[in-house]
Amino acid sequence: MALSTFSSVVIALCFAAVFVTWTTWTYFIGSIWSPMPKRAIRQMLDYAKVGRKDVVYDLGSGDGRVVIEAAKRGASAFGVEIDPLRMIFSKLMVLLHGQAGKAKIEWKNIFSKTNDPDFKKATVVTLFLMQHANDMLQDTLRSKLRKGTKVVSYIWVFKGWKPTLVDKKNMIYLYTV
Ligand SMILES: C[S@@+](CC[C@H](N)C(=O)[O-])C[C@H]1O[C@@H](n2cnc3c(N)ncnc32)[C@H](O)[C@@H]1O
Repeated sequence: MALSTFSSVVIALCFAAVFVTWTTWTYFIGSIWSPMPKRAIRQMLDYAKVGRKDVVYDLGSGDGRVVIEAAKRGASAFGVEIDPLRMIFSKLMVLLHGQAGKAKIEWKNIFSKTNDPDFKKATVVTLFLMQHANDMLQDTLRSKLRKGTKVVSYIWVFKGWKPTLVDKKNMIYLYTV
């Protein structure tokens, strides 16, 4: 029996509500999910001169696209993601892109005090979060990152830090801690 127009609309609205909830629930613990454009990823990694010797951490790694691109450039790349579905999906993407040897995804809260990412290993940290999340992370990054580590943020800034490079068009800010 064919669904009535009303039932179809209700089902479509339910799917839309589930999708919107899934992409936005992490707002309250850092940031919604919104994938970064490929052009911006390339520019961020170019700015940080990511290469074989680098250890790149993408804080809030979504579907793993930044981690995968960093691994393709030869870096050891780590993504930290709190949403379990995005974490599983990004692990699959890492496998599909043949980067399992270089890219790892950790299921973690970037703000956790007891199970935090191993920031000391990083030479480059990339972020596409939101302004309140950058504000909350700033002191941790300052105290835990090694001197000289590059921090590249898409759209959102670190207040009070002077960027080493700025791409106003693509809204990319490179800082050296
Ligand atoms: C705007 S998306 C960016 C995703 C990816 N870095 C990219 O550029 O395509 C932010 C991601 O951060 C994740 N996130 C938000 N708060 C987090 C937290 N406290 N710990 C870990 N991941 C978090 C979200 O689930 C989302 O996938």
